[in-house]
Amino acid sequence: MPMTARELDSAYYALWRKAKQLAWDPADIDLSADRAQWARIKTDYPEERYAEQILKLTSLFYQGEESVTKTLAPLCSAIARGGYGLDKELFLTSQLYEEAKHFEFFVRYFAEVFEVDGSETQAYMTPAPQAVLVADLEEVTDRLRRTEDPIALKATFAEAVTHYMGVVEAMLARTGYVGAHDALATRGWLPGLQEGYRLIRRDEGRHVAFGMHCIAELTAEHPEYRSQVQATFEKQLPNVLATVQEFDYPHPLVDLDKLTAYALAQYERFAAAGLGGDAPDLDALTADD
Ligand SMILES: [Fe+2]
Ligand SMILES: [Fe+2]
Repeated sequence: MPMTARELDSAYYALWRKAKQLAWDPADIDLSADRAQWARIKTDYPEERYAEQILKLTSLFYQGEESVTKTLAPLCSAIARGGYGLDKELFLTSQLYEEAKHFEFFVRYFAEVFEVDGSETQAYMTPAPQAVLVADLEEVTDRLRRTEDPIALKATFAEAVTHYMGVVEAMLARTGYVGAHDALATRGWLPGLQEGYRLIRRDEGRHVAFGMHCIAELTAEHPEYRSQVQATFEKQLPNVLATVQEFDYPHPLVDLDKLTAYALAQYERFAAAGLGGDAPDLDALTADD
């Protein structure tokens, strides 16, 4: 089936072109300064427990990126089976490639800087992050994979987009990457990790933009999906806030109030698109803030 003129001119196709232009390789990031600094951070701040906080934060990113890499294929498949557009399919191939690269970055960081096995990240998966990042995302994408009825498929696709792009990527990933990057940048710590966070955050902007455009389009066509978008956010909001509270230490590495406010602002922006508003301007969504 050929691409239509409308697909070639769509927001999804523009995001696909941007993804190709901004490609990067996790293997190219220089981690040599991080190794020396990490050894000092571990010994110099026993009271502040900064090393523990950095390890916990990075473990949640490791687990989150692994989870989104493994759960995106059912969304690609639903678009193909439902005939929702080749422009969307093309964009999601770039997203799948990017999620795999994000996971690769953390695999490399654990091996080369923290020098611990990635399986140690599981120790930080308390019930809230485990539910929102892994178990509930697996549940909705697995249900999407098994849905055959075309009407149920589209409704489940809207639910999966809300959870994947709205909750996990907009509220947690982008918030986490902004907070983590700021915390390290203000201290001048771990430049390789900062660079990874910066590049991943830039990619996540496109992923969230895709989700917002999808959800605005789906709810415009099916206003009855709005209650489902709202229900997904309401169900996951306590898990998101509890995940942020995991970083409430006596000497917090990240600014918790700022992080919570940022997560809620992301929620409001995404939910507005799914509750009858328009998806915001693409350039604003994908700006490297
Ligand atoms: Fe990612
Ligand atoms: Fe993403």
